[in-house]
Amino acid sequence: MPNESTSAPSAAALALQIRAFGAPTEVAEVLEIAVPSPGPGEVRVRMEFAPVNPADLNVLEGKYGTLPALPAVAGIEGVGRVVSSGGETDEALVGKRVLLPHGFGAWRQFGNAKAAELVVVPETIPAHQAAMLRINPATALCLLRHFTHLQPGEWIVQNAANSGVGRGVIQIARACGWKTVNIVRRPGLKEELEGIGADVVLEEGDGLAKRITEAAGGSNIRLALNAVGGECALSQAKALASGGIHVTYGAMSLQPLRMPNGLLIFKDLTFRGFWVSQWYRAAGEKDVATLFSKLFEWASKGVLHTPVEAVYKLSQAKEAIAHAMRANRGGKILFEG
Ligand SMILES: NC(=O)c1ccc[n+]([C@@H]2O[C@H](COP(=O)([O-])OP(=O)(O)OC[C@H]3O[C@@H](n4cnc5c(N)ncnc54)[C@H](OP(=O)(O)O)[C@@H]3O)[C@@H](O)[C@H]2O)c1
Repeated sequence: MPNESTSAPSAAALALQIRAFGAPTEVAEVLEIAVPSPGPGEVRVRMEFAPVNPADLNVLEGKYGTLPALPAVAGIEGVGRVVSSGGETDEALVGKRVLLPHGFGAWRQFGNAKAAELVVVPETIPAHQAAMLRINPATALCLLRHFTHLQPGEWIVQNAANSGVGRGVIQIARACGWKTVNIVRRPGLKEELEGIGADVVLEEGDGLAKRITEAAGGSNIRLALNAVGGECALSQAKALASGGIHVTYGAMSLQPLRMPNGLLIFKDLTFRGFWVSQWYRAAGEKDVATLFSKLFEWASKGVLHTPVEAVYKLSQAKEAIAHAMRANRGGKILFEG
């Protein structure tokens, strides 16, 4: 690993660039791009790992809440090692493993970042796990903490429970003493999810609302986390107690939320949304530091762990993206730098 303590000269490096939005496997091009010398207050980072998340695919399609000006390097999150500094930064950063800034364009070998926007990662966290912390586990923690104050032993219900976020919700809820009803869309996941702390695993389908209520032993469920939409989201809402909160943060089925009027009139449910990008924009430095300190603690101890199905080189962009778009994956797809 190079560990230059002085400013690096300009160089060229591979990156996955988009010049137009469209079909994800078509629009990500592997190119050699110029990496200028880092300027004052900047450092050069060598990317180690960066995941392909659903949000990255949405960006490639041009269907995300914020879109970069084109051309742009893709990849919202990732982890890398600081290899040199442009001066006017803390020289102790050189050699450190860092989370790349949100929306950095992480699918690249090298890039320059503002030193002030980097988060130093403890070496006790494996690099591939660190690469996936900024979006999904952060979302899981915010979903569990920011909408209501859950009591010890209280139940929540979530769908897409075997996703990156879903697994984070299971692991964090277990660590905090909350119980989870976990909905998945296919069989064969019960044992695996119970193994990471799920209390109950249910498959989507007939009678889901009743099965959720029974699974929680008739306890009031005050929080539902929805990344699917459509019928599944409706079943979650039906299973909520009066005054419950239904939070939508994803729409994997692409089906809209349709709620009978009665759920609002007679149960006074609250429907909310969550977007972690907006959370980072609005959060103060202290909130972000508190979030990462908790995530780092859990990731160091292995309490938080996201499985990885495959690791690809940047030069294998099309295969990697096609793999990330497949159903029934056993874990995340990562690029290595
Ligand atoms: N709002 C935010 O701030 C925020 C932050 C992070 C993630 N998200 C969203 O959260 C969702 C999960 O992201 P992730 O990275 O955790 O996912 P992931 O690990 O890539 O897994 C995708 C999950 O979606 C499931 N799925 C796919 N199509 C589905 C369908 N038609 N119906 C039901 N389930 C379906 C998959 O099930 P199978 O395994 O059966 O294929 C899998 O559980 C995405 O919608 C993502 O955009 C939002």
